[in-house]
Amino acid sequence: MELKKIGVVGCGLMGGGIAQVAAEAGYQVVVREINQELLAKGMNVIRGNLARNVEKGRMTQQAMDDTLARLKGTTELADFKDRDMVIEAIFEDIEEKKKLFATLDGICRPDAILASNTSSLTVVEMAAATKRASKVVGIHFFSPVPVMKLVEIVKTIVTSDDTLETAVNFGKTVGKTVVTAKDLPGFIVNRLLIPFLIDAARVYGEGLATREDIDAAIALGLNHPMGPLTLMDFVGIDITVHAADALYREYGDPRYAAPPILRRMLLAGHVGRKTGKGFYEYTK
Ligand code: 3HC
Repeated sequence: MELKKIGVVGCGLMGGGIAQVAAEAGYQVVVREINQELLAKGMNVIRGNLARNVEKGRMTQQAMDDTLARLKGTTELADFKDRDMVIEAIFEDIEEKKKLFATLDGICRPDAILASNTSSLTVVEMAAATKRASKVVGIHFFSPVPVMKLVEIVKTIVTSDDTLETAVNFGKTVGKTVVTAKDLPGFIVNRLLIPFLIDAARVYGEGLATREDIDAAIALGLNHPMGPLTLMDFVGIDITVHAADALYREYGDPRYAAPPILRRMLLAGHVGRKTGKGFYEYTK
């Protein structure tokens, strides 16, 4: 299937990034937020990212203007009725996602693909909320979306070959390297990343070393762009614990069990960069 018109549900960190890279790649994009304030905030981030690209000589002013002309914001899901594919990037709550998929199923053309950017929820559960399960697929981007070069395409046991191929081509067209994984919790990256991150929290909680030394050891000893505690703050302690819980629920393996320190941080609202405090403190 040839895609031209893309819808993105959510204009936060992930949704905004997905809308940006899709519009940059030439797709006509409609991105939806729940209110004007959040929409304006998300669109400003996209404008800022594009302006920085122009400033750095990575993009011409004309290309920026053309990208923005292809990008429309809305607060109405009904504006997805003519889309070829809609990608949801709302928060990680399976009940909310199932509700959204059922609503989109009623709004979108019968041949439209519905995709989820979920990092750890089960895609087939969302597919089952629709009458087009073969047209539901996972398209998992990484944060920050404009910078990270990977996209994981997730094939459920009912995703059709045509849907999979279309999603793979979309990932390539937006300039990413595409890997394909089964619809098992965490797919490839989070399945391997989450045990590493929560182990870093565990050893920090045990007092193995300071937060700075744990991060420096991994960043410099393994050439990672960020140490694991910094990365958890960046991704969000909430997302990390949520993904760990999803993996633990499915496999019952203790290596996926989030340690008490992470749950206590969550209870205290120390979620990471987005709340100004996680393992580290952040000021604007
Ligand atoms: N949006 C757009 N561009 C961004 C950005 C953002 N949020 N953050 C950084 N950038 C760009 C900057 O503009 C900069 O480009 P420029 O200076 O040439 O204009 C470039 O990225 C590098 O940024 P900085 O110089 O500010 O800082 P760093 O060199 O430290 O890079 C980083 C920042 C790209 C975030 C780097 O630290 C990194 O790669 N960190 C690891 C990120 C990672 O692992 N992400 C995956 C998380 S897991 C995930 O997303 C899955 C989910 O399901 C949990």
